[in-house]
Amino acid sequence: MNLKIRDRVETTPLYKPGLPIELVAREKGLNPADIIKLASNENPLGPSPKAVTAMQAALTELHRYPDGGAWELSGKLSQKLGVTRDQIILGNGSNEIIEFLGQAFLQPGTNVIMGEFPFVVYPLVTHHFGAEARKIPMPGLKHDLPAMLDAVDENTRLICVASPNNPTPYHNTHAEILHCVENLPEHVVFCFDGAYLEYLNEAPDLLNLIQQKPNVIILRTFSKIYGLGGLRLGYAYSSPELIAVLQRTRQPFNVSSVAQAGGIGALDDTEFVNRSKAINDAGIEQISAALGNRSIEYHRGETNFMLVKVPGVSDVCESLLEKGVIVRSMANFGLDDMFRVSIGVKSENEKFLECLFSIL
Ligand SMILES: Cc1ncc(COP(=O)(O)O)c(C=O)c1O
Repeated sequence: MNLKIRDRVETTPLYKPGLPIELVAREKGLNPADIIKLASNENPLGPSPKAVTAMQAALTELHRYPDGGAWELSGKLSQKLGVTRDQIILGNGSNEIIEFLGQAFLQPGTNVIMGEFPFVVYPLVTHHFGAEARKIPMPGLKHDLPAMLDAVDENTRLICVASPNNPTPYHNTHAEILHCVENLPEHVVFCFDGAYLEYLNEAPDLLNLIQQKPNVIILRTFSKIYGLGGLRLGYAYSSPELIAVLQRTRQPFNVSSVAQAGGIGALDDTEFVNRSKAINDAGIEQISAALGNRSIEYHRGETNFMLVKVPGVSDVCESLLEKGVIVRSMANFGLDDMFRVSIGVKSENEKFLECLFSIL
């Protein structure tokens, strides 16, 4: 073949997700039921039951195209968030909305400010649209917002901050974020990624942020606390002006009818959200205490994963895999000697710890 592939596509590294259970079972000759996956920051309780019921009911209408404007789900979200419908956009996962931002704002000659250890999709999308990723050091593995603000120039189009972040587990205070937003030049979009917001003990006043500035956008997802990573459903809210720009970049039916129904069901599932947070909090304590007893270094925040530091991390992750425990080595993320482990239910955490200690 003599295909003329765009430079940026040819040089885009392939995203490597956490290994699926079935693949590990096949490759390691293990029973899938004996494998635990703590690699992709998923909800170990499964999907929200109310979402499942709503999605089952939606299956009989699958011969119809979805409502492209997602009237019911965006209405429900607008009530919950205290914004109007035209301030909301839905995505096939919040990842897709990061891509909308790329479509709308990035091209060669522009740049995106992000942390040194950013959520992996920010540099991917930046590269894809030919823009420059400016990675700003993260002292103590936390975003340094004043330094990020200092790095802005006339070619900056986006600042991307996940709080809590991923792969590092720390979050910024509301005062830090507000200071950044207040001092943001008007030509820059501040993309606040709240994928893990529900795990925080004290939620920041996000409405206040978008009321301050029309160039702030807040990304949220159903993939984490609602347990719907497989459904691919995320949303963002901002000023009507910014949302109107992004609406022009999306496919007409980017969110399926089943996903819309799942989102509507999930938003009612407060009991599930509370239970998920309680089990996550208990899991963080369980893992921290056990690692602390063995003097193993770790980083924990208010989110659904932790970083663990061990010498020879790649070998340790491989040995865990042999024992049917999937975690994520951070060797390729610049976080030397660290792996990321998602918080599981008590028995999963026990198995992870038991296997880790036997390896070490
Ligand atoms: C910081 C951050 N943002 C966004 C996402 C992706 O969310 P979604 O599944 O909604 O595309 C993740 C998933 O791991 C994440 O860690």
